[in-house]
Amino acid sequence: MLEANIIEPGSLVLIFLDNRRQYLVQIKEDLVFSTDLGNIKLSEVIGNRFGYVGKTHLGKPFYCLMPSTADLMFKVKRKTTIVYPKDLGYLLLETAIGPGSSVIEIGTGSGALTLVLARFVAPDGVVYSYERRQDFIENAKENVRRAGFINNVRFFCQDVAIDGVLQKDVDAVFVDVPEPWDVIEKARFGLKSGRHIVSWSPNVEQVKRTVEALKNNNFTRIKICEITERELLVRTQGVRPKERGITHTAYLIRASLINP
Ligand SMILES: C[S@@+](CC[C@H](N)C(=O)[O-])C[C@H]1O[C@@H](n2cnc3c(N)ncnc32)[C@H](O)[C@@H]1O
Repeated sequence: MLEANIIEPGSLVLIFLDNRRQYLVQIKEDLVFSTDLGNIKLSEVIGNRFGYVGKTHLGKPFYCLMPSTADLMFKVKRKTTIVYPKDLGYLLLETAIGPGSSVIEIGTGSGALTLVLARFVAPDGVVYSYERRQDFIENAKENVRRAGFINNVRFFCQDVAIDGVLQKDVDAVFVDVPEPWDVIEKARFGLKSGRHIVSWSPNVEQVKRTVEALKNNNFTRIKICEITERELLVRTQGVRPKERGITHTAYLIRASLINP
C-alpha cells in the first residue's frame, strides 16, 4: 500500500511558486501544467512525497504542498461570495459539532463553507445543504467533489424561507444568506434544543433584523462580533503590518436554542 504522503494520480496538490503563483492542481499523468514561469510535467511529481521540490522547464523552482483547508476554500470556483477562514474558524468553535455530527447549511452558494463542514463532520457525519438556485448547487457539488468530501453532503434545491428544512434534531445550523431573518423560524424546527445557530452578515442592518428574529424564536445567549485579521511583513528593513488587505468581511452571530 502507498504511504498517505505520496503524490498519486488524482491527488490534489498545491503547486506553489511564489505568493502570487499558487495553484490547486489535480494530478494527471499526461498533463503539462503551464505557468508564466514555465511548464511543469505532472508525471514528474507522481510517486514523490508532498514537499517535493521541482523545476519548471525554465528552471524556476516549484513546491508540491498538501492543500490546507483554507486553500481548498479559496480555490473553489466562485459563483457567489464565500465565507472566509478567519470567520469560519471562529464560528465552527461556537457550535458543538465534530466527527459524526449532522449539520444544516442554509445558502450553499459556491460550497466553500460546505466543504469545510463536510471535512469537520467526516467520516460518518452529514451536511444537509440548502440552496435555492440549481446552477449554484451544480457548481458547489463540483467544488465539494474535487475537495474529496462529496459523500458527506446532501444537497437540496429549495428556498428555505418558503419551504423550510426537511431534517429535525441536527447538531448545528449555519446560515449564510442575505436575509437570515426569513429563515430563522424554519431553521429552529430543524435544530436540536440546546444547540447553536451561526450566521454571517456583511451589514449592520442585517444583524439588527436577524437578532430580532432570533429573540422571537426562542434563541438566547446571542453574541455578535467581528474578527479582524492583520498580516505582518517580515523583512530585513523592518517588521510591520501590510498596508493593504481585506478590512471587512462579515459580522458574525451565534445564538443558542432553548425549550419553549
Ligand atoms: C453568500 S452565498 C453563500 C456562500 C457560501 N457560504 C460559500 O461559502 O460558498 C448566499 C447563497 O444563499 C442562497 N440563498 C439566499 N436565500 C436563500 C434561501 N432563502 N434559501 C436557500 N438559499 C438561499 C443564494 O442563492 C446564494 O447562493
